[in-house]
Amino acid sequence: MNSQPPTTTTDTGIPVSSDEYSLTVGAGGPNLLQDTYLIEKIAHFSRERVPDRVYHVKGSGAFGYFEVTADVTQWTKAAFLNKIGKRTPILARISTVAGEEGYPDTDRDVRGFALKFYTEEGNYDMVGNNTPVFFVRDPMKFPDFIHSQERMPDNGLRDNNMQWDFWTLSPESAHQVTVLMSDRGTPRTLRHLNGYSSDTYMWQNAGGEKFWVKYHFKTEQGIQNMTDAEARAMKAEDLDYHRRDLWEAIGRQDYPAWRLEMQIMPYEDAADYRFNPFDITKVWPHKDYPAIPIGRMVFNRNPENFFAQVVQAGFEVSNMVPGIGPSPDRMVLGRMFAYGDSQRYRTGPNYGQLPVNRPLGEVHNYNKDGPMRFHHHGNQPVYAPNSYGGPKADAQRYRDPSWFVESAEIMRTAYQAHRDDNDFIQPGMLYRDVMTPTDREHLAGNIAWHLKQGVEHFIQERAINDYWARVDPDLGARVAREIGLTAASR
Ligand code: HEM
Repeated sequence: MNSQPPTTTTDTGIPVSSDEYSLTVGAGGPNLLQDTYLIEKIAHFSRERVPDRVYHVKGSGAFGYFEVTADVTQWTKAAFLNKIGKRTPILARISTVAGEEGYPDTDRDVRGFALKFYTEEGNYDMVGNNTPVFFVRDPMKFPDFIHSQERMPDNGLRDNNMQWDFWTLSPESAHQVTVLMSDRGTPRTLRHLNGYSSDTYMWQNAGGEKFWVKYHFKTEQGIQNMTDAEARAMKAEDLDYHRRDLWEAIGRQDYPAWRLEMQIMPYEDAADYRFNPFDITKVWPHKDYPAIPIGRMVFNRNPENFFAQVVQAGFEVSNMVPGIGPSPDRMVLGRMFAYGDSQRYRTGPNYGQLPVNRPLGEVHNYNKDGPMRFHHHGNQPVYAPNSYGGPKADAQRYRDPSWFVESAEIMRTAYQAHRDDNDFIQPGMLYRDVMTPTDREHLAGNIAWHLKQGVEHFIQERAINDYWARVDPDLGARVAREIGLTAASR
């Protein structure tokens, strides 16, 4: 490097004389309050953190693009999807769920799969996971579920007993726990996993026709997992294995790619489908709703600044562009509020103005002021309606996506059950019909190992008799054998 490095300055750009020595009275005397450069440096240091995401704390980020590969205009009018070959820049963040920022990447966990599409009609965020289903189907249970995966109130330790207590008292979790306890719970890298919306969303075409949809981002690298033993060994070797692998792959131009496939259900099918299709604990069988390839996503750029572009990135389920909407899936509806609320808490009400969160197009509305606001429209009117040329909402072109609800009393009740609704059918089919003998063996072993780590006897019994034996009697028997429960004690 030949060029001279720049001179250090204060945050207001004033050149400073030393990065090494504080201002003192003589070489042995006290420090001075007038050393404002030192004070600025230390005061800034103590404010380096913003609050973590409440979960999904540790994540890795990458930029890239999404390209449309099929005509989808019969299903959605979303502008970024309206032409084969059209490319949209994206940001991705793939995360672990329960661990904190320093937690080992290879812990058994679900992986978050959050995407931000910077489209011509604003930012579209698809905030999913690497699993097609979830642990609970009602947002009311969500904080309790997350608490059960985190740390104990007294000793601050993670606790398998708490996890199994919650799961076995919540039979709707059986499908997702089967996936989590399989080797898919320990992906080899972030490049070798699929991403799913898990939730159901609505697509609407230019003619107003509506469809229910699920997104499947299929890895072109192929699914690869670690065994439980490999994942545990990697915890000791490299805590940041997944983050490092993604960074290095992109650095050497080995760009990971995913194919987007959509499951599309005609609007009318939902009412009478054999199970409630808006229940996130279920997958839609592909023989009823085949996965249709519609696009390709590539990660080809590493972040330049992790904090600015990954920590402060804000993904929101409610960021949906015209042509895409929520569905009666209660989890989506519960999530519509949560994410923006979290951003406002973590980075403040003007989080949307940060470069990583800013949409490509202009923002026009009547929100004003607030901490750290720098984007503004001068003396544009600050109220609507006004006579001075402020922005106008367009009710003709843009309608809120909607669906019919039967006239009913407002109530707190379970999901409407359809004729085949049952929490154990799909995990049982996954075990018997999809998994290989090796998968089944690993699943039983992984469950047994997990159940042996500090789980009380009565919860182990419940896990076998009321949970795994109902998923599949053979699985229940295998787990019982592996954790040494005798027939008598069962
Ligand atoms: C009603 C249930 C749920 C609530 C209330 C909820 C709430 C939240 C909140 C508050 C955050 C932190 C956001 C931030 O500070 O940036 C978050 C992050 C996240 N959630 Fe959820 N969540 C729910 C269910 C789900 C489900 C079902 C999925 C997957 C299908 C999911 C995937 C994610 C992901 C991937 C992140 C991390 C996003 C990122 O990388 O920044 N969540 N969630």
